[in-house]
Amino acid sequence: MKIGNIEFKNNLILAPMAGVTDVAFRSICIDMGADAGVTEMISAKALAYCNSRTQDLLLTAPNEKIKIVQIFGSEPEIMAKICASEYLKKFDIIDINMGCPAPKIVGNGEGSSLMKNEGLAREIISACVKATDKPVTVKFRSGFDSEHINAVSFAKMCEDAGASAITIHGRTRTQMYSGKVDLDIIKAVKEAVSIPVIASGDIVDRDSYIHTMEYTHCDACMIARGSLGNPEVFADITGTEKHWSRYEIIERHVKLLREYYGENFIAGHIRKHLLWYLKGYPGASQIKVYVSTEPNIDNVLAVLKTFFSNN
Ligand SMILES: Cc1cc2nc3c(=O)[nH]c(=O)nc-3n(C[C@H](O)[C@H](O)[C@H](O)COP(=O)(O)O)c2cc1C
Repeated sequence: MKIGNIEFKNNLILAPMAGVTDVAFRSICIDMGADAGVTEMISAKALAYCNSRTQDLLLTAPNEKIKIVQIFGSEPEIMAKICASEYLKKFDIIDINMGCPAPKIVGNGEGSSLMKNEGLAREIISACVKATDKPVTVKFRSGFDSEHINAVSFAKMCEDAGASAITIHGRTRTQMYSGKVDLDIIKAVKEAVSIPVIASGDIVDRDSYIHTMEYTHCDACMIARGSLGNPEVFADITGTEKHWSRYEIIERHVKLLREYYGENFIAGHIRKHLLWYLKGYPGASQIKVYVSTEPNIDNVLAVLKTFFSNN
């Protein structure tokens, strides 16, 4: 797949996930064969107010050859201002979130709420495209709810407004993350536009990747939940050599977090990843409480090292 003049080798991308796809996790997934990882969604308004925690979300790693940032907002002028700003200078692609289902975001007229307002969505995309030379892409859903499945017209609008590619998550806002992804709507979107289309939803292994690509004829796929505690999924799909064992990945994850963030943040943030990394291992339930509650992360690592050497 090519977006603008940016070439993707494996046609496989780590999907944006708020609270998950920070610089450390993206870096690991790229080592495992993902072409790129998308940042967590970042509020254009918060950036405009120079919020420092928000600026942490813009950190990138040396192995991120293709850097994709995702921003959200509902005000065309602010979105355009951020696209043109120094904040996004190092990124190669700017993705606009028009799919987030969270009540607070929707309540502000942002994220998937924009699927109900194609006029404003068009204004935002056009303003962003005008403000930057970088490719601007849009990620959205099949529609707001089952009565309003407008992904095809929305996709055409994105292309017409100047988007260089789109990602479609084949669920409605009302579905949030439940139910099976609708591959037919993704296929219909792919047939309706000439820009690259990236499929998102329910890709968890090589079989589901191949099925999604063959059924929809999309140009690439994104993996979200299938990568939680399982960044090896990218190696399994792409045939990339796995240089690290599960424990070595965990150790690397903590090391990378320490390069970028303070210990207090890491101690809180890493635990959910550790529990995901343990999922499916026999006997894991016995150490989960320890992993969740022991304050010292080095102590936790020591216990995990013993656990994984026996599993
Ligand atoms: C914890 C979590 C956070 C997410 N955050 C974002 C986000 O910030 N931006 C976005 O466009 N999509 C976000 N998504 C949606 C995913 O990118 C993806 O489209 C969706 O989960 C479907 O893919 P999956 O079935 O592979 O999980 C999030 C999903 C999850 C589970």
